[in-house]
Amino acid sequence: MDVTWGSAEAVLADNWIGASTVPSRGLYPHQWSWDSAFIAFGLRHLAPERARRELVTLFSAQWRDGRVPHILFNPDTPPEAYFPGPAFWRAGRTSGLIQPPVHARAVLAVHRADPAGSGAETFLATLYPKLKAWHGYLRTYRDAGGRGLASIVHPWESGMDNSPAWDGPLSRVTPVDPAGFVRRDLEHGHAADRPSDEDYGRYVRLASAYRDCGYLDERWADVDGGFTVEDPGLNALLADAELALAEIADVLGLPAAAATHRESAARVAKALQETLWDSASGFFFARDVRTGERTREYTCAGLLPLVLPDLAVAPALVATATGPRFRLGEVHGVPSYDLTAADFDPGRYWRGPSWFNVGWLVRRGLLHHGEHALAAWLRDDLVETATGTGFAEYADPFTGTGHGARSFGWTAALTVDLMSTQDTQD
Ligand code: SER
Repeated sequence: MDVTWGSAEAVLADNWIGASTVPSRGLYPHQWSWDSAFIAFGLRHLAPERARRELVTLFSAQWRDGRVPHILFNPDTPPEAYFPGPAFWRAGRTSGLIQPPVHARAVLAVHRADPAGSGAETFLATLYPKLKAWHGYLRTYRDAGGRGLASIVHPWESGMDNSPAWDGPLSRVTPVDPAGFVRRDLEHGHAADRPSDEDYGRYVRLASAYRDCGYLDERWADVDGGFTVEDPGLNALLADAELALAEIADVLGLPAAAATHRESAARVAKALQETLWDSASGFFFARDVRTGERTREYTCAGLLPLVLPDLAVAPALVATATGPRFRLGEVHGVPSYDLTAADFDPGRYWRGPSWFNVGWLVRRGLLHHGEHALAAWLRDDLVETATGTGFAEYADPFTGTGHGARSFGWTAALTVDLMSTQDTQD
C-alpha cells in the first residue's frame, strides 16, 4: 500500500468518533459542517458507508428553518475542550451559525462512489429534501442585500475566520473583554498561527448578538454593530451546490426539479458576477451589505467562482490567480491572501497560508476551464505538501512548512481524493 494513502487513511480512522469525523482531536473535537463534506469526499474511496454516515449525521442536526449548523457537538467531549461550546450557543446540540454549502456536491460524489450501497440505504432520496431546504434557507432568509446573494452574519460562517476581507466590516464590532472567556484554541495551536485576541473578542461579541436575537435573520438587520456580508466564496459554492442538486434530482428521476435547480444556480451565478465582480481588478470582492461597499482585499474566496463551469470571466480570474498576488503554479497551494499585501502573513490562519480545501476547489475549477497542466501541477503539489507536513491544517506558501493542527481531517481526506481522481472531476 502507498505510504501516503495509508497514513491519510490512519488519520481518518483516528479522527472517526462513531458516526462522524472530528477535524482534529485537539483543536476541533466536534463535527464541523463544511469539514464533514470535504472529509466525505475522501471517505467515499475508503469506506463509502462511513462517508454516507458522516453526511447523514450532519443533516440530523439541521434546523427547522433549513439551516445546517456549523458545529454539531459531540456529547462525549468534555465542555472545557472547546470554546464556544453548547452552553454558549443555547441551541441544544449545535451552534447557530452556518458554513459554506459544499454538501450537495459531496452527497452526489458519495452516491456515485457506491451507487448500490447508496441506493440500498436510500441515501440520495433521504438527503435530497434536506439539501433543498438548506439551499432554500440560504436563498431566502439570508438574502439580506436583496440581490439574490446569501449573506453571512459572522466571519466563522465563511469558513475563513480571520480573512482580511472581514477587517473593514468587523471594525464596527466592539470586542468583548478578553477576561470574559477562555480561548481553548490556544491550548492546541500556536498563537502566531491563530486569529488575534482582538479578533476573537469581536467573534464572541457577534455570536452573542446573533444568539440574543434568537438567530432570527429578519431581526439581524436592526441589530447595531452587526455584520452582514456577501462572500464570493460562499455564493460560488451555493451556485455549484444547486448544480449538484440538479444532478441529484436527475438521478432521482425528477427532471422538472432538476431544471429549477439549474435556473437557481444561474441566478446566483449572475448575481455574483453583477454584484461582486470587479472587471478592472479581474477579481471577485466581498460586499458589506450594511454600507453597500465592496471590500478591496484579494483573498482566496475571490478565486472560488472558478468552480462554476459557465463562468464567463474565468480567463481574467485565472490571470489574477497566476499573477503576482497568488502566484498559482509557483508557490505551494493557493495562498489565502494577496502575497503582495503589506499585511500578508505566511503562517496565520486565513491571512496568508495555503489551505488544502481551497487548493482542492481551485483545482476542480481549473479543470472546468481547460487549465489541465496547472490543475495537474496543483494536485501533485497538494499531495506532496499534505504528506510532507503530516496532513497539516494549512501551510506556508513559500516554504511548504505546516501550520495549525496536524492530522487534520480534510487535509487527509482530500489527499486520498486527489490520489484517486487524477484528472477527472469527481
Ligand atoms: N473555525 C472556528 C474555530 O476556530 C469556529 O468554527 O473554532
